[in-house]
Formats: sequence, C-alpha cells, structure tokens
Amino acid sequence: MSDYDATAIGEYGTERHEGGCIPHAKSWGVVYKPTTTRPLLDMSQGVPGTPPPKVLLEALSQSSSSPNHQESALRSAFAEEMKTVYGREMDITQDDIAITAGCNMAFVATVMCLADPGDEIILPVPWYICRLSFVILLKRRRIGISTTSMAFLPSTSDCEKLINSQTKAIALVTPNNPTGAIYSPDLISKFAELAQKHKIALVLDETYRDFVDTMPPHTLFAPFQTEVLKSSSSWRSNVTHLFSFSKSYCFPGHRLGLIAASPDLLKHVTTTLDCLQICAPRPPQLALASPGLLPILRQSIQASAQSLKIRHNIFRTHLPPNWTIGSQGGYFAFVKHPFVGIPAITLCQRLAEELGVLALPMQFFCDDSIGPDLESFGQSKTDWERWIRFSVANVSDDMVKQVCGRLHECEWHLGLKAE
Ligand SMILES: Cc1ncc(COP(=O)(O)O)c(C=O)c1O
Repeated sequence: MSDYDATAIGEYGTERHEGGCIPHAKSWGVVYKPTTTRPLLDMSQGVPGTPPPKVLLEALSQSSSSPNHQESALRSAFAEEMKTVYGREMDITQDDIAITAGCNMAFVATVMCLADPGDEIILPVPWYICRLSFVILLKRRRIGISTTSMAFLPSTSDCEKLINSQTKAIALVTPNNPTGAIYSPDLISKFAELAQKHKIALVLDETYRDFVDTMPPHTLFAPFQTEVLKSSSSWRSNVTHLFSFSKSYCFPGHRLGLIAASPDLLKHVTTTLDCLQICAPRPPQLALASPGLLPILRQSIQASAQSLKIRHNIFRTHLPPNWTIGSQGGYFAFVKHPFVGIPAITLCQRLAEELGVLALPMQFFCDDSIGPDLESFGQSKTDWERWIRFSVANVSDDMVKQVCGRLHECEWHLGLKAE
C-alpha cells in the first residue's frame, strides 16, 4: 500500500487542471498540422520571448564556477535596485528581503506562514492558476472576489464582505495574470488599508511590474506610511510583496523570486524555505549581484517593456473589431470572443486544432463557484465564459499580426456566427 492520498489528488486534480493548463492547451496544438506558411502560433504561455541579456549570461557563466556563497549579495543589491522602481526614498532594506527559488515558491512559503489549514485566502477571480492550485494543495480555502467590471478590477467593498474570522490574507496580482489589468496606486492603497483594518495580510505579487508605464506602481513602501495607509503602522505590519526574476531578467529556468516583508514574518518564511529547498540557486543570485550589473540590466528591462508596449498596440490594432479587449497590460491581453453561446474552452480547442492558434480560455482561471456571484452583479455566465487570455510576450510582432489574421478567419473557417 502506498501513502498516496486519493482524496487529496481528487480535489487538486480536477479535469480543468489535470496535468496543468499549459500542457492541456499544448495538447490541442499537437493536433494541428503546421505548414511552412502556416506554423503553430503559440500565445498560451507567459514567458519571455528573448534570452537573457548577454552581460547577464556572462555573469552567470562566471558565477556558476564560483565557490562564493555570499548569501546577502543579491538582497542588498536588489534593495538598492528597487529604489529605481518605487522611489529613492523607499523604505526597504536587505533585512526585509528573502530570495526564493522562483515567485511561486515565494507564494507557497508565504501562505504556509500566514495561514493554517482551513483558513481562508481571498483571491480575485479570474485567478493566476498556480495561486489556486497552491491554496488547494496547502489545504487553505480560497474565497474569490469576482472582478466583473470590464476592466477586471477587484473592489474593496466586495472584498470586505468576504472577510471573516478565518480570513488570513488578500492575495492580489498586479499587473494581473491572466487579465493584464493594472491596479492603480490608489486601488492598491485601498486594499492595504482594508487589510490593515481587519488585521490580515495583503500579499501583492508584482511579477509584471516592470512592464507598465506608470511608475511607481504604488506608494506602499514610501517612508511616510501614516499618509499612505492612513494609520500609524508601516507597510511591514501586513504587506508582503512578491516578485519574480523570470520575466524582467528573461531567465525563468534559473528559478529566482523574492519576498519583501517584515523581518518578523521573514524569520518564519526563511525557516519554511530552508525545509522546502534549503536555498534558492546561488549562481543566478551571484550573477545578478555582480557589481553594477542591475543598473545596466534596467536599460534592457526598459527596452523590453517598450517592445512589449508596441506589441500590445499591434494586437489591439489588428484584432478583428468584434473581439473585445477587456484589459491589457504586463504580458497579457484578455479578450472576449464574439460567438455567443460558445464557451472559450471550446473555441480555444478549435482555434488550436483547426487554425493553429494557442491561447488560454477563462475556464482555466476560475471554477464553477463563480456562477451565483456573477448573477448578483447582473452578469451572464455565458458572457463570462467567452474570455480568452493571449500572451503577447513570447511571440514576435509579426506573429501577433498572423494570430489576428487567423482570428479574422474564424467565421468562415470554423463556421461560427458572430454576435
Ligand atoms: C503572477 C505570477 N507570479 C509568479 C509567476 C511565476 O514566477 P516564477 O517563475 O518566479 O516562479 C508567474 C508566472 O507565470 C506569474 O504569472
């Protein structure tokens, strides 16, 4: 007899998540017969489309052969680098930072420290799929706030109605995955105030923060918290910031993420991380911490952000007019298809198999519990089910145009009637 817990797997491995959403979508793509003039066009995955900058690869090659294990190097270099994003006066030091083996690991360790099994975490719906999977895996309960407005922004008043004595955290992602929605500094401050009022944590994943124009993304780290949070305590009392190095530095495979939180919380987090994986890989940490490298890499981050902005514009301009963009930002555009009564999951499968376009349907980012919520907001479930996530990050400008061209073909090629 093995220790395999069938009930746990049953809960985690729903049909929707079986084997992961990306592999599920890729399996549709395998059915497509590509030709040289009509290749498979993959806008399913939120990964960088370019390799890391050469200077980073060189630093990586040097650090890979170094016996140096100086643990604090990246923490101190990155605390300094964060000032270019959040402002020179920002109140974060290396003592507020822990480096993790990727941002997903940062979320897991944070949730393990903030909430016990049975406690509740509030997530906006649609959610970043790994968030839901981890919350279920860790046997914490997730409660969803639906973001039913066209812009996919959560509201603090809807969120407040869901808070009870079991609630331990509100977990937000901005710019959002899957919707691309960018939460304003004001909205983020309001969530921080709400969390503080109820003495719960605000977990803010800012993996895509380098890909927006508006800087700083928020003012929570400003030194005068009394003004920002309208209370006497600092961000350290309840804000946990998460970041991934995968996107900005184009090296997802090297597995580096970051948590900024109060040193008190970090004591528990680092113990948890030590149990899970001892430490994040050292060579990429040392490479990034090479003297003067982060400011140099900031220029290539800005160049990538600029190219991504241009690609978002190309997508917006070339998309068939009856496909509606709900929100767009960071790596993603969230788009409502025009075929009433056809769930996005059905359409995405046909798009992949018959037209060679891979994108992810709304059904991968929510579950059936969203239904009653939608009705109370005056939304129809069939409309909700028509949204599709396109990742503009990992394809070329020309591929974006080709994808839009194939979406134009849906009506005659797939025999569908637009509204
Ligand atoms: C919002 C968000 N957080 C975290 C991650 C994963 O980051 P990492 O590769 O650092 O684990 C992703 C990846 O898609 C993401 O979209």
